[in-house]
Amino acid sequence: MKATARAHTNIALIKYWGKRNEQIILPTNSSLSLTLDGFYTTTTVEFKEELAKDTFYLNDEPVKGEQYSRVAKFLNLIRRTAGNEQLYAEVRSINEVPTAAGFASSASGFAALAAAGTKAAGVDMSNQELSKLTRQGSGSACRSIFGGFAEWRMGNRADGSDSHAVQVAPQDHWDIRVAAVVLNETMKEVSSREGMKRTVDTSPFYSGWIDSIPNDLKEIKAGISVRDFEKVGQIAEANCLKMHATTLGANPPFTYWLDTTMTVMQTVREMRKSGIPAYFTIDAGPNVKVLYLPQYEEKIQQILSDIEGVTDVRLSKVGQGITYL
Ligand code: PMV
Repeated sequence: MKATARAHTNIALIKYWGKRNEQIILPTNSSLSLTLDGFYTTTTVEFKEELAKDTFYLNDEPVKGEQYSRVAKFLNLIRRTAGNEQLYAEVRSINEVPTAAGFASSASGFAALAAAGTKAAGVDMSNQELSKLTRQGSGSACRSIFGGFAEWRMGNRADGSDSHAVQVAPQDHWDIRVAAVVLNETMKEVSSREGMKRTVDTSPFYSGWIDSIPNDLKEIKAGISVRDFEKVGQIAEANCLKMHATTLGANPPFTYWLDTTMTVMQTVREMRKSGIPAYFTIDAGPNVKVLYLPQYEEKIQQILSDIEGVTDVRLSKVGQGITYL
């Protein structure tokens, strides 16, 4: 009745941006990501007879409020799947995802919780089934079940039974790197949930975003299979810009970018002009992630660290899928 699992966070190269069903988290578009080895969550779930409700500790601190409710709600899903609705769990998570680096810890968090929770409840699931379950905790988390490159296929059924991630290429397929550029300014962000909703509901650019996805996906997968860095980088960067463009068309309009966000973007473009291949991508926040190849690591780290307003540059390799400890 006890199990421990680890899951790594992921960075989307083709973004998930919009839901067609908010209840069971079904996306309006397929997406594709890279799992990162540097940032992960380790979670232990133990179902205990003596508990009268679920308990959740994050980095040894008891968690309450909205964060607790999301975990308890997800445990209900696991209990339903296991056919035992009476048993409560103690959940202990250790997060190696620095919030300052601008990664949502929900991806590694819900993937680790799903893996440890189902194992502890004695439910045997394929990774594909696990990905479907994980999706209902946090959308982007369904891709973190897999290592290397993972594609979340949106599916078209109303019950979500065909909406899950699949592995596109394994961890050892390609040694591509990601630098997470940490900025000293922060901002009160529009959550990804609210940002997606507002964009889907009001942005006239949203249909253009959706129309562009199938070709981006097809081309980036072709690029990944032959390890074409230029092609993968160009598509990822352009896809990120399109996603962020939809937010400017929303009502009320919003953006996740700060001055330094744009300075980092410009620096990456200048690096390319000077012969260093690098491309950026940005999630629902101001921090920038830079894709690069190992032989340029030192140079890239130095250039990014020297930008005014940048406090830290965290490097990561390609990561693995969920593991049981
Ligand atoms: O699953 P969420 O709610 O953390 O949304 C993730 C949205 C983006 O990070 C912007 C894109 C993505 O595909 O990860």
